[in-house]
Amino acid sequence: MKITVIYGTQRKAKSSTYNIAQQFIEHLSMGDRITEFFLPQSMPNYCRGCWQCFTDYKKCPDYENLKPITDAMQEADLLIFTAPVYVYHVPGQVKAFLDHFGYRWMPHQPSREMFRKQALLISTAAGAGTKSTLKDLKDSMTYWGIARTYTFGRNVAADDWDHVSEKKKLNFTKDIARLSKKILVMSGNVQPGLKVKGLFYMMRFMQKKFHYNPADVQYWQEQGWLKKSRPW
Ligand SMILES: Cc1cc2nc3c(=O)[nH]c(=O)nc-3n(C[C@H](O)[C@H](O)[C@H](O)COP(=O)(O)O)c2cc1C
Repeated sequence: MKITVIYGTQRKAKSSTYNIAQQFIEHLSMGDRITEFFLPQSMPNYCRGCWQCFTDYKKCPDYENLKPITDAMQEADLLIFTAPVYVYHVPGQVKAFLDHFGYRWMPHQPSREMFRKQALLISTAAGAGTKSTLKDLKDSMTYWGIARTYTFGRNVAADDWDHVSEKKKLNFTKDIARLSKKILVMSGNVQPGLKVKGLFYMMRFMQKKFHYNPADVQYWQEQGWLKKSRPW
């Protein structure tokens, strides 16, 4: 399965989140292409709030940085995001990255391809906060229209992978194998769940009735979504 990975930090060997992601990739790649990006290196800027993307995403001042990442995300079957918990939420660079995709939220111009993809969100904390951290990411996945999103949050009771107990590592390995099987079974014939489909129909109604942003309405028209066509 083609996988694009967005790592929330640049830590590798010492990172618990990175090491867990590597185990998932081993199960899921089946020898296929893996494209990896590390934050903040791959996307070092904050959203400036210029609103340009909502009319033409190519006018985003960070378009050149974003293009290789968005291209890789478009081509992937599975998106993997990693995010260690930083004060109960995603690290700032992950939030800054997600902010650049406001225009891809369903009330605006969601990408058709997302409705056929799966996403895996991985978070680790020393003791608490994976739930709120994973929600930071999951909100974007849902509103991007990702068909199926899986979360894997674990408390590692450590500052790095070397200090994680063998018992915990063994449990993670078992859980990773189990969740990987689920993702593999769905691969290739994934359909959006009720929540994503429901949101799509709500937004469709809104585009038809309210015409808030002409660029969004035009986009929905061009996709054929205001008529019979659907992105799944
Ligand atoms: C700036 C910062 C903030 C953190 N905030 C939390 C927190 O709110 N809750 C928690 O349990 N651990 C917190 N931690 C610990 C990390 O989430 C934890 O060690 C995690 O496994 C690190 O992931 P990594 O090894 O992939 O870098 C924080 C660590 C840092 C550096």
